[in-house]
Amino acid sequence: MTNEAVTGKPILVLGGTGKTGRRVAEQLRAGGHAVRAASRSGDTRFDWYDESTWAAALEGAGAVYMVDMVDEPVEWNPEESVRSFCRQAAAAGVGRIVLLQARTNEDAGGKSLIGSEDEVRDSGLEWTILRPGWFTQNFDEGILLDGIRAGEVRLPAGEGKEPFIDCDDVAAVAVAALTEDGHAGRVYELSGPRLLTFGEAVAEIAAATGREIRYVALTADEYVAELVAEGVPEDYARMVADLIGQIRKGKGAYLSTGVQDALGRAPRDVSEWAKQAAATGVWDV
Ligand SMILES: NC(=O)c1ccc[n+]([C@@H]2O[C@H](COP(=O)([O-])OP(=O)(O)OC[C@H]3O[C@@H](n4cnc5c(N)ncnc54)[C@H](OP(=O)(O)O)[C@@H]3O)[C@@H](O)[C@H]2O)c1
Repeated sequence: MTNEAVTGKPILVLGGTGKTGRRVAEQLRAGGHAVRAASRSGDTRFDWYDESTWAAALEGAGAVYMVDMVDEPVEWNPEESVRSFCRQAAAAGVGRIVLLQARTNEDAGGKSLIGSEDEVRDSGLEWTILRPGWFTQNFDEGILLDGIRAGEVRLPAGEGKEPFIDCDDVAAVAVAALTEDGHAGRVYELSGPRLLTFGEAVAEIAAATGREIRYVALTADEYVAELVAEGVPEDYARMVADLIGQIRKGKGAYLSTGVQDALGRAPRDVSEWAKQAAATGVWDV
């Protein structure tokens, strides 16, 4: 398929209100593309667990950015959901799909975080797979925001290092793959430019805010117990603990070249992101 087959048609962005999907939609619109930002609460309604919402979202779309439900605690079966979605997408005339997964080959909470890849590869659609590491946006839009505001981030990450990546960069790679030729059949492993421990990442935020914020290393069991006491379902808490445990074990401590490969430029550094996020006031207390 050439780019002509997907241009001029709207691009369906799943997870369109989330950390990456919102940015993908914004960057596509800024580039003059027609966008359908879809989710349960999005402009276009789309629910992975309600197939009756899929057809209208897909109608006339040329390409899809796919955020799946792999990190949700509910039963998620990509063999059923992603396969069925891809079949419907192909029938609706979609030519290209860009799938967001994760930069890990290990299960977390008994689940594969790359479980949708085979379904997308076998879909007959032109595909690109993105495998990013941990997002910097976990600190200002995600699960670590409350800890940063409270001045203490408590995690079972030990002194493990991770090359945190900015979701603006993940979105930029997605937009390139959705709108340009040359990305089909590519798996992009995406990381930021620098390995940091959680303590070092928190120190970047402390420096950017002028606040005192510290990182406290917990055991996995302590962490799960704290989350469960806050009302988080245990299976979800265990999955997040497993994911963070991979960092503790050093599994994420390597850089990847996907941003450079896809965009021809380096990824953004954590300190630049931290200054920009601090300026929004999101961490003010
Ligand atoms: N966080 C990280 O550091 C990280 C790192 C690597 C990979 N990932 C991967 O990134 C993915 C998450 O993407 P993200 O961070 O961009 O999203 P996100 O910020 O976690 O937001 C989730 C999105 O999915 C939508 N959603 C939730 N339930 C839905 C449902 N039943 N049907 C349809 N849409 C639903 C939400 O909108 P509504 O609530 O409106 O439906 C929202 O737009 C996961 O696959 C994860 O493995 C995350």
